[in-house]
Amino acid sequence: MKIPNHVGIIVDGNGRWATKRGKSRSEGHLAGVKNLDNLCQYIFDKGIKVLSLYVFSTENFKRSAEEVNYLMDLFVKKFKKDFKTFSKQGIRIVFSGRREPLRQEILDIIDEITIKTKDNQKGILNFCINYGSHAEIIDACKKIVNDSNNGKINIDELDEDLFNQYLYNDLPSLDLLIRTGGELRLSNFMLWQAAYAEFYFTNTFFPDFNEKEFDLALDSYNNRDRRFGGINYEKKDN
Ligand code: IPE
Ligand code: IPE
Ligand code: MG
Repeated sequence: MKIPNHVGIIVDGNGRWATKRGKSRSEGHLAGVKNLDNLCQYIFDKGIKVLSLYVFSTENFKRSAEEVNYLMDLFVKKFKKDFKTFSKQGIRIVFSGRREPLRQEILDIIDEITIKTKDNQKGILNFCINYGSHAEIIDACKKIVNDSNNGKINIDELDEDLFNQYLYNDLPSLDLLIRTGGELRLSNFMLWQAAYAEFYFTNTFFPDFNEKEFDLALDSYNNRDRRFGGINYEKKDN
């Protein structure tokens, strides 16, 4: 079994999961977060080194203040809990996203957890919150121009590896990108990092995306022929 190094999940379908059951959207988000608790552990136990979770996009601020506030409260609790669970296991927790307009309480917990787990080596749990790939690339470009103007870098030396260092986190490329909830789009998630990712879309709403469903995604990943633009001359159908 090939185990991907970096898995990304676009956590989608919490609202529809709830509506289908006559529950509020908030109940859907709560069920989604509860599901994440089990799933993250399972994923790290499988040997995956980096797990990126898209939990709130820059565009999600278009939602009602009530929903946004509910989600932010939920995230604060979730981050604290994951810090307890995962830091003991040697997992580093990082966050990707724009700081503005996240509220101070969130920024404080993000900063605290990032610093406290920074030396952990076993794996990385990356929460993408107020994350948008366009914002990330633009923010990176601004920092690059700044460093070039200040003589910190020579622009002629800018290559993919150096560019990657200017992103919110210097992570390996995505190997497997999963989206739950049935939409066939990226919704501004890791456009740079997903250049050669294998995509797995499922209609399952996130609260129902359990260990078995994750195994189906892994099986599908194992059946892919990753060529990266090359040709596998040993395969007889090539
Ligand atoms: C959760 O799913 C992802 C977040 C943006 C927090 P949604 O809230 O988008 O659920 P659906 O897509 O409306 O069902
Ligand atoms: C994408 O889901 C963002 C996250 C999962 C955090 P959305 O529900 O916001 O995406 P769209 O609006 O269907 O594209
Ligand atoms: Mg959605």
